[in-house]
Amino acid sequence: MTGTIRYDRDAGGVVTLTLDDPGQSANTMSRAYAASMTAAVDRLEAERDELTGVIVTSAKPTFFAGGDLPEMIKATPADAPALTALLTTIKADLRRLERLGRPVVAAVNGSALGGGLEIALACHHRIALDAPGARIGFPEVTLGLLPGAGGVTRTVRMLGLADALTRILLTGRQFRPAAARAAGLVDEVVGTPEEMLAGARAWIAAHPDAAQPWDRPGYRIPGGGRALAAQLPAYPANLRKQLKGNRLPAPEAILAAAVEGTQVDVDTALRVETRYLVSLLTSQIAKNMIGAFFFDLRAVNGGASRPAVEVAPVTRVAVLGAGMMGAGIAYACARSGLDVVLKDVTAEAAARGRGHAEKLLSREVAKGRLDAERAAAVLARITATADVAALTGCDAVIEAVFEDPALKHAVFAEAEPVLAPDALLASNTSTLPITGLAAGVRRPADFIGMHFFSPVDRMPLLEIVVGERTGDAALARAFDLARRIGKTPIVVNDGRGFFTSRVIGRFLDEAVTMLAEGVPAPSIEQAALQAGYPTGPLALADEVSLSLIQRIRRQFEAAAGDDFPVLPGHAVVDRMLDEHDRPGRAAGRGFYDYDAGRRGRLWAGLAALATAEGRAIPLIDLQERMMFAEALDALRCRDEGVLRSEADGDIGSLLGIGFPAWTGGVLRYVRQYPGGPAGFAARAAELAKTYGERFTPPAL
Ligand code: NAI
Repeated sequence: MTGTIRYDRDAGGVVTLTLDDPGQSANTMSRAYAASMTAAVDRLEAERDELTGVIVTSAKPTFFAGGDLPEMIKATPADAPALTALLTTIKADLRRLERLGRPVVAAVNGSALGGGLEIALACHHRIALDAPGARIGFPEVTLGLLPGAGGVTRTVRMLGLADALTRILLTGRQFRPAAARAAGLVDEVVGTPEEMLAGARAWIAAHPDAAQPWDRPGYRIPGGGRALAAQLPAYPANLRKQLKGNRLPAPEAILAAAVEGTQVDVDTALRVETRYLVSLLTSQIAKNMIGAFFFDLRAVNGGASRPAVEVAPVTRVAVLGAGMMGAGIAYACARSGLDVVLKDVTAEAAARGRGHAEKLLSREVAKGRLDAERAAAVLARITATADVAALTGCDAVIEAVFEDPALKHAVFAEAEPVLAPDALLASNTSTLPITGLAAGVRRPADFIGMHFFSPVDRMPLLEIVVGERTGDAALARAFDLARRIGKTPIVVNDGRGFFTSRVIGRFLDEAVTMLAEGVPAPSIEQAALQAGYPTGPLALADEVSLSLIQRIRRQFEAAAGDDFPVLPGHAVVDRMLDEHDRPGRAAGRGFYDYDAGRRGRLWAGLAALATAEGRAIPLIDLQERMMFAEALDALRCRDEGVLRSEADGDIGSLLGIGFPAWTGGVLRYVRQYPGGPAGFAARAAELAKTYGERFTPPAL
């Protein structure tokens, strides 16, 4: 044993290096790992003449988990020299391993993400075990980082610049083993650990002279040479287009490290990569993203907000309403192995909803993600019906009929008598308070909000809404159901619009208010995109539909009475609907024109909606008005108890409503604002003075 790596040499001269950090559930690129790897490679070099080859594998369920994130998140600029030294050591050892002069095979027995894949890429051959849940890839970009232990350099040299960037490094995609092989990241996929180790030995025996392609004379980067040089100038521009001007530094750093790396030898490229990683690591943005997309996400998915009660899992789900949301929910449940009864008013409407699931499934089959037989089995789990008797025995119901409280009461009253006696009663309402809806059912303790996002098959978030009378068992069951269908559940307390619908409303209100003030529509969209929002607010409003936005605002207005803050933007929405009949994307016309469903240009009539003389508003003010409008409302949600934890608020804002990813979430944005929460409050007060009292900060 050498620290975190076991060294075993067999009679045939094959050394197995087993990654096995004692006392840790997973191996990470810690200082202990670095020291162990140095010692292991020292010994390999010393014994070289007696060796025939090396197998690198792991004793943990995952091959190797990647960087030591708890350590990394603490890094400050003062740590840069120490980080550089550590990375230099890690890379030098992997470099020595691949130039040992003996075949080295990675036996990837489980997930190899980030650092794990980097170790595997430094081996001459990679055999992956098709273990349940195993994932292979470089998720660094999603954490504000780059694969800086040789990942950028070796991926580019294996796959060529274009594929490495656009398929692997910039996407952060985590591949199943078979898909990783198709992408060129591993060479073989096997079904058992025995096959994996036997395969490694066989490869070693057949390749005594193994070396990395880039260490052989005459090596050229695939697609390289003149063709590559000709592409280079176009890359940054293409990338910016792809990122829509997003200000995330990681993709830009990955691009720069990759492109610069192609112009120099491997060892220099590895040094370039280190420089970029260290600058990302010591930046606040990486800390924000690691904090949210790793630590908060783990806490939220791990059940930090789930009461610790034992409950029976849901097996048969009734979905009421087979419209856009109901059909998506039925698909998501069936895809995860649950039986679904999908009910609408007519058999035709129910069948249409099932048809939506069928379309999604055939798309998956076409993409090779699902075989036809399994797709048919998934579809067979969905029963489409107009008959309430078909709901008999369902142990959960998710209601997704029109957003009308009376109708929702009616469908629950109709379903309750035939459901299992303890069935979970959930509504997918996007705004109606859960406590009010629960008043109509026999068992309000079993009633809960399960607010999905559109499109259900692609949106990872589910907002679980706890009403005043919702019991712990219902919450636990809803939570488990959410996890079962692969969603990330945040748990919030009841209130109009809960957390997400309410906060996103402030963003849309602020944007249309800018239109009323005479800010050109393209400037509003561009300001949001540059701030890091995935979609401009006017495009988003078209998606949501202006009629829905108006309806929700009127509900809020009716509930708040005289306290309701009237904004100039409200009139813009009303005029878009009443005078111009432009309700949004579904109708083919909203703030944008649409051609066969595709977004075209911003509508030429928008400038005429301004009620004030356009004045020059600085870009930063446009951006911060949108971000502060959301952040201030999130603070109110926290203070009013709608939010139960900051992690729920941050994850909800990132996965549900597109708050800029670089912030690590809407509440982290407040905490990390220059000057901290006090700096945020001071800036909010400034915005309040210039743009209106809605920006007045709460006491922080
Ligand atoms: P939709 O209009 O596409 O579908 C509603 C469906 O309910 C229709 O197929 C209708 O025939 C059916 N229905 C009406 N009365 C029924 C009854 N008595 N029994 C069974 N089915 C009945 O609406 P959508 O967009 O799917 O929304 C449904 C619910 O989900 C609403 O409460 C909405 O607020 C909520 N929601 C919508 C989101 C969205 O992005 N559209 C997002 C999250 C929640």
